[in-house]
Amino acid sequence: MSLPPTREVAIEINGLNHHFGKGDARKQALYDNRLVVHRGEIVIMTGPSGSGKTTLLTLIGALRAVQEGSIRLWGTELAGLNPAQQVEMRRNLGFIFQAHNLLDGLTARQNVRMAIELTAAPQRDHDRIADTMLGSVGLADRVTYKPRNLSGGQRQRVAIARALVNKPKLILADEPTAALDKDSGANVVALLRDLANNHGTTVMIVTHDARIINVADRIVNMVDGHIVSDVRIKETMVICAILKKCAVFKEMSPSDLTDIAQKMSEERFAAGEEIIRVGEDGDKFYVIASGSTDIIVETATGTRAVAKLGEGDFFGEVALLKDQPRNATVTAREPVTVYSLSKENFLAAVHSHKSFEDQLSAVLFSRG
Ligand SMILES: Nc1ncnc2c1ncn2[C@@H]1O[C@H](COP(=O)(O)OP(=O)(O)OP(=O)(O)O)[C@@H](O)[C@H]1O
Ligand SMILES: [Mg+2]
Repeated sequence: MSLPPTREVAIEINGLNHHFGKGDARKQALYDNRLVVHRGEIVIMTGPSGSGKTTLLTLIGALRAVQEGSIRLWGTELAGLNPAQQVEMRRNLGFIFQAHNLLDGLTARQNVRMAIELTAAPQRDHDRIADTMLGSVGLADRVTYKPRNLSGGQRQRVAIARALVNKPKLILADEPTAALDKDSGANVVALLRDLANNHGTTVMIVTHDARIINVADRIVNMVDGHIVSDVRIKETMVICAILKKCAVFKEMSPSDLTDIAQKMSEERFAAGEEIIRVGEDGDKFYVIASGSTDIIVETATGTRAVAKLGEGDFFGEVALLKDQPRNATVTAREPVTVYSLSKENFLAAVHSHKSFEDQLSAVLFSRG
């Protein structure tokens, strides 16, 4: 039995607190934050000024020490790293921060080369790699310019080229497109998307830029040092597409559907594995995203498979609606991916979305 591959976790944050200042001036900037980001995800962080976005980003980037709680990057704990280990960790990261720290005495090409020189790339290729990267942010004709002769937006693009040139595993960006016009902003967004899709680069961006929001997989919203919402955009769209194939959700408006999809979690089961078991308390409702399952009931003569369910079918509702134990066992016939909704969210959805309740009754009635 082998499970379908699960997505690799890039960032895992738990119980993260952070304070600034000492004594009477001590002020808490982050409160008990938790967050999981997968490889290849583009995550946007938004929130009011002073809500802790930059603080969180600099902690993830090993640019400041973790005081309380845990941040793991690809499984390595950042809390307790010494400065040399922090530097080592930062070699995997690309930073695009507002103060872009370009070296004034060096040309655009030389600024980008500095990052390439940290890698194993043969020296004779450094200029070519730097020029190609600068070309992809629209600066092919500025490679020999020094920062003082570049505009603010051009300087920012040099900094972006420098951050991306080594294809880092994780890119941390603080308002990377704020000073850019429409075309250069779109270029940068396309570059980030390409790195995420083709190199598995994970991207975390603080921004209010709608162009970036369109390519994001998730939006994390911070208020007063708390992550107050974490919306999985792409995944929600995928779940909505499956829900639309499901009889009980057919009549539901897109916004109601999105509301439910956002509360669902993906779960995977190996062939032969039990998803629910007869007699147990029901705590979830399931929609099958891929694969198929058997419904198995107990009879006087033993167990018997009474039905096969496939993509877009649902199960698990009876125990939740009637507050009874599970009336059947459901097992995976092959590797199965389901979207599950907790009992609490399921009942809330039934009560607040009339069309859901109606469709559910209709389907239950027809199932007999
Ligand atoms: N070095 C510091 N010393 C003391 N307090 C700080 C320091 N850096 C940030 N803070 C405080 O921590 C809180 C969070 O700041 P942070 O810079 O993370 O906010 P932000 O969400 O990035 O805001 P903005 O959108 O304005 O960039 C603020 O109240 C700020 O005053
Ligand atoms: Mg900030």
